[in-house]
Amino acid sequence: MHSQIVEIPATQWQLSATDPTWIEALEQGKVLYFPTLPFELSTAEQRLLTPEVLDAKVRNISLAANNQLKGAAGDEATQQLLTRMLERYRTQAEQLVYSLLPNYQGALRNAPTSYRPKKVEARAQSWRADDRRMHVDAFPSRPNRGERILRVFSNINPEGVPRVWRVGEPFADMVQTMLPRAKPYVRWQAKAINALGITKSLRSEYDHLMLQLHDAMKADMDYQKNAKQVRMPFPPGSVWVCFSDHALHGVESGQYMMEQTFHIAPEQQYNPKISPLAHLTQVLQRPLI
Ligand code: SIN
Ligand code: FE
Repeated sequence: MHSQIVEIPATQWQLSATDPTWIEALEQGKVLYFPTLPFELSTAEQRLLTPEVLDAKVRNISLAANNQLKGAAGDEATQQLLTRMLERYRTQAEQLVYSLLPNYQGALRNAPTSYRPKKVEARAQSWRADDRRMHVDAFPSRPNRGERILRVFSNINPEGVPRVWRVGEPFADMVQTMLPRAKPYVRWQAKAINALGITKSLRSEYDHLMLQLHDAMKADMDYQKNAKQVRMPFPPGSVWVCFSDHALHGVESGQYMMEQTFHIAPEQQYNPKISPLAHLTQVLQRPLI
């Protein structure tokens, strides 16, 4: 297996130049890794480095594209500090992505920015929701009909603790193993769960298959343990970028991370022929949305 991680020695969020091989790697489902690209916190912001800023029961603090802050505990001053920190992260993530992928200008749709102050190892959840198991991102309530999920992550741990990921085999290799296990799509069921409000829009066959792949990977402990993978400790001060609907990933441990999500239609990519939707359509030889 060729390495699924491509290292880029940039030290500025605004890259001075991009490289077609980075763009190709990213669109092929690899993870771009910037080992020396810190997201700096001000002295005032350092006091946000505690799980106490989190509302009980939520996993993340998020700032919606319309600047609505969710999931934060604390007084007005803390909430304002959080909002400013998340806004700045969004701006820097945009700088990085637009300088890395100039053609994405005008094509990206901003999704929320998040701050994750909780220790990964302390999470208790069902196997399906457990992101410690390798998976591709697919969300039960939010069908996306093939729209891509691009994410910019940054480890801001103040104590030198890495965020340890496992990055799995290429998407196409996983599909070969897992697609035969997928239950068939049933359109009336998709309509029923949409009518009940369980999904925010009609789940397409593509969305159904992505959830099936997500679940099949997470349910298979032998696959989790023995499938090809690399363990990657992302140190504080580093950034990594991937299409999380395409790159197989699981998070083993870590605490304090920033994350920005963007969406883009596959037709707007540099190479529109490479995407989970294109791949599954080609394997199954029928339209999936
Ligand atoms: C995920 O997207 O699966 C979680 C990644 C992380 O929290 O590091
Ligand atoms: Fe994920």
